[in-house]
Amino acid sequence: MRPSSPLIEVARLSHSYGDKEILKGLDLGIARGEVFALIGPTGAGKTTLLRIMDLLEIPSSGEIYFDGQRVPRSGKQRLAIRRRMSFIHQKPQVFNASVYDNVACGLNWRGEARNKIVAKVDCILETVGLEGYKNRNARTLSGGEAQRVALARSLVLQPEVLLLDEPTANLDPVSATKIEELLSTAARQRNTTMIMATHDMSQGQQLADRIGVLLDGRLVQTGNAGDIFRSPQSTEVAHFVGVENIIGGIVIANDEGVATISVGDDHHGIGIQAVSGCPAGQQVYACIRPEDVTLTPMLYQSSARNSFQARVTRVTYLGPLSRVEMDCGFRLIGLVTRISAEELNLQAGHELYATFKATAVHLMERKSRQ
Ligand SMILES: Nc1ncnc2c1ncn2[C@@H]1O[C@H](COP(=O)(O)OP(=O)(O)OP(=O)(O)O)[C@@H](O)[C@H]1O
Ligand SMILES: [Mg+2]
Repeated sequence: MRPSSPLIEVARLSHSYGDKEILKGLDLGIARGEVFALIGPTGAGKTTLLRIMDLLEIPSSGEIYFDGQRVPRSGKQRLAIRRRMSFIHQKPQVFNASVYDNVACGLNWRGEARNKIVAKVDCILETVGLEGYKNRNARTLSGGEAQRVALARSLVLQPEVLLLDEPTANLDPVSATKIEELLSTAARQRNTTMIMATHDMSQGQQLADRIGVLLDGRLVQTGNAGDIFRSPQSTEVAHFVGVENIIGGIVIANDEGVATISVGDDHHGIGIQAVSGCPAGQQVYACIRPEDVTLTPMLYQSSARNSFQARVTRVTYLGPLSRVEMDCGFRLIGLVTRISAEELNLQAGHELYATFKATAVHLMERKSRQ
């Protein structure tokens, strides 16, 4: 990503519906060419923020800047800026007309010459893998195909900003991958700035240069995928991004950048080691992703700094994976393949060893209010 001043920026943005405040003082700048993923639970305000950025809605307070200009609340200039963006809604809306007409409509409205329109539509249909579909009625298409028509309709206008609301939420994994590839290509080849709302964490990780976590109308953390998924800054973000182990404790020693954290109910005898500069005396949460926990029937010697005797308290099956809850003197959750769970004969009451590396532990300062 090229460093540049933001192409689109919101400042102190708040929005209410009735007396319910949905967005609460957001500041966010998106650089030209950046792919930004907005993640957050249902009702957090993602769609509302996209609608405001697309200038479909006027915020209750705050400002929007586009390409350095403050966007006025009404008038021609606002409309001109809107035309530089395109919004793909969660459920692709296609008209009861041919695929060609669906894709060409924006160019028709712009009054482009017919031969140019035909060439552009042909080219974009090929890009999205819908050559040969030109004369099909768009209403007869599958969900994935309709989503590609919606994408083609936006891309053909060569918007500077593409806003996408859950672009693959209703699609099977194969169709979703196809759409993700198209988006990734569009971002690279056309330098299109993209802002997408997504529930899909892996999509956020794969496509986005930067991720913003929206919780209850506040942008609580922005950063690259590594920052968000490995180094959440609050227990709320940690929970949301699937860090299931958030273990309260106190740093009792720090030896050349390896902290020992005393954990467990009585804080006696159980120490977790973490690579961290956190000084002794600091109250912390130790965050460990469940997939970073290894389970073994015996204690093997390894370079991993943390190995604990554990008693399985519960096993739940999640498709090919098994989520294993354990008591190690503190509660620990591990995620292993179902095959491993079967081979290890994991069931409640079973004793084993749980191991994770000191580098897999992220420490978060525990403030008194948390
Ligand atoms: N036009 C509206 N009038 C009143 N309330 C609204 C309106 N639009 C959205 N809301 C409310 O604002 C909140 C945020 O909605 P929004 O659609 O932005 O959430 P979201 O993060 O996109 O959720 P999801 O992940 O389910 O799509 C919700 O509580 C919703 O009910
Ligand atoms: Mg939404």
